[in-house]
Amino acid sequence: MKMYDNLKLMKLKLPKISDIKNKTVFVRVDYNVPLETEVDAVGNKKVVVVNDERIKASLETINFLLKHDATVVLASHLGRPESSSDLHLSLEPVAKYMRENLSLPVQFINACIGEKIEKALNESESKIFLLENLRFHKEEEENDAVFSKTLAQHMDIYINEAFSTTHRSHASIVGITKHLPAFAGFALEKEVSTFAKMMSEPKRPLVIVLGGAKISDKVGAIEHLAKIADIVLVGGAVANSFLKADGFNTYKSYIEDAPVDLKKKNINYVDFAYSLIEKHKTEKMLMNGYIPMDKILYPIDVVAAHSLEETNSEKTIIIDLTVENDSTLDGAGKINKKLLYLDIGPKTIKLYQKIIEQANTVFWNGPMGVWENPIFTKGTRKIAAAVALSGAETIIGGGDTIGAVNHFGLEKQFSYVSAAGGAALDLLSGKMLPGIKPILDD
Ligand code: 3PG
Repeated sequence: MKMYDNLKLMKLKLPKISDIKNKTVFVRVDYNVPLETEVDAVGNKKVVVVNDERIKASLETINFLLKHDATVVLASHLGRPESSSDLHLSLEPVAKYMRENLSLPVQFINACIGEKIEKALNESESKIFLLENLRFHKEEEENDAVFSKTLAQHMDIYINEAFSTTHRSHASIVGITKHLPAFAGFALEKEVSTFAKMMSEPKRPLVIVLGGAKISDKVGAIEHLAKIADIVLVGGAVANSFLKADGFNTYKSYIEDAPVDLKKKNINYVDFAYSLIEKHKTEKMLMNGYIPMDKILYPIDVVAAHSLEETNSEKTIIIDLTVENDSTLDGAGKINKKLLYLDIGPKTIKLYQKIIEQANTVFWNGPMGVWENPIFTKGTRKIAAAVALSGAETIIGGGDTIGAVNHFGLEKQFSYVSAAGGAALDLLSGKMLPGIKPILDD
C-alpha cells in the first residue's frame, strides 16, 4: 500500500443532489454486524441484530438518497462465509431488522447479481433494497473484473459508506468503481476527515494512548502516530514488549509472538519496541514548559497476578518498576516466575491522568489491562474517565476500547467513536486505503 502522509489533502467526493436525483444508487455499506439466534417460549427461532451502530451510521446517506427520489440498493458482506451455503450469514435478518426497528421499508433480494436484481428494480414498489451477502461469491474478495462489472449492472451511481471495509481490495469496494461514478457516503467522509484532521492539524498537545492485547495489528499505527504525537502513552499487553525492550523482567506476561515471516527475518515485537524507544529518545516533551519527558512512555508500575481469572484481589501485587524491590519474590525469597502483568499500577494511572488532562487532542485505542476482570479494571476505567473529562478533542477506536467505555457508561463522552478496526489502523499508519482512492476528490 502506498504511504499517504499528507492526509490534509484527502478530500473526498460527496454526492450532490444533482448526482443522485432519480438515480439508482449502489451503496456499499458495512452491515457486518453481530447476530444472535433467539428462541421463544414455543421454540421458534429468530435471528436478531445485537448491535446496530453500523446500520445507524448509514442512515444519513440513505435518508438523503430517499429524500431526493433515488432508488437505494444496499450491498454488504457479513462474516467470512466459505460459500453461498453458509446461510447463517445471510443478510435477510438485517433487512427485517431495518423494517421493524428503523421504519425503513427495505426489500431483501436473495442475490447480489443477476436477474433477481433487475426484476426487483423493475417490478417492486420499494425504493430501498438490501442485497444478499456479497461474500457468497468468492469473486468479491478476488476483486474479479467480471463480477465487479456485473455488480454495477442496472446501477447509475456508486457510494461507499463502508469505511471499516475500505482496507479491502474487493470488487464492491474497488472493482465496481471502474464502472460507475463513485462518491463517499457522509459517515465515511466524517470518519476519514476526523482522522485526517487529527493527523495533519491536531490541536496540540496531541496525546496518543495505545493499549490492548495485540501489538501486531498496531505496529504501523504506533510507528506513524509516534512521529505525529507530542507524547505516546502505552498500556495493556502492548506495554509488555516495551518493558522487556527496556530490560525489565516481564515474567510470564503476554508478549505477542511475531508471525513466521517476520521471525525468519529475526524480527520480533520487543525489537520493534526497542527501536521505537531509541528513535524517539532524544525527543522530549515540555509539559507546562519545564518538565522534560520522553516521548514514548510505558508503565512505571503494574498490577500482577498468577492468572487472568484471579478473583481474590489479595493475591495481586503492585510492582513498582522504578525502584529495586522484593515484591516479585515468593515466600521462599525466590523470584516468582509465574507473574503476569495484568493492569497498569496506581503511579502510572496518576502520571497518565496528568498528561491526558493537559492534552488538547487525545486518541485512544486499546484497554490498559484485562478490564473484563473487576480486579484488573481500574487502569482502563481511570484512563477512560480521564480521556472523557479532559475537555480535549477525543477520538477513541477499536472494538475492545468501545466495549470497555460502554461497560463504564462513558460512550457518549467522547468527541468521536470509531468502530472501524483494521481500516482505521491502516489509515493511522499513513497508508492510502484501496477503497478511498477511487472516491478522492482530485
Ligand atoms: C470489520 O468488521 O472489521 C469489517 O467488516 C471488515 O471485515 P473483514 O475483516 O472480514 O474484511
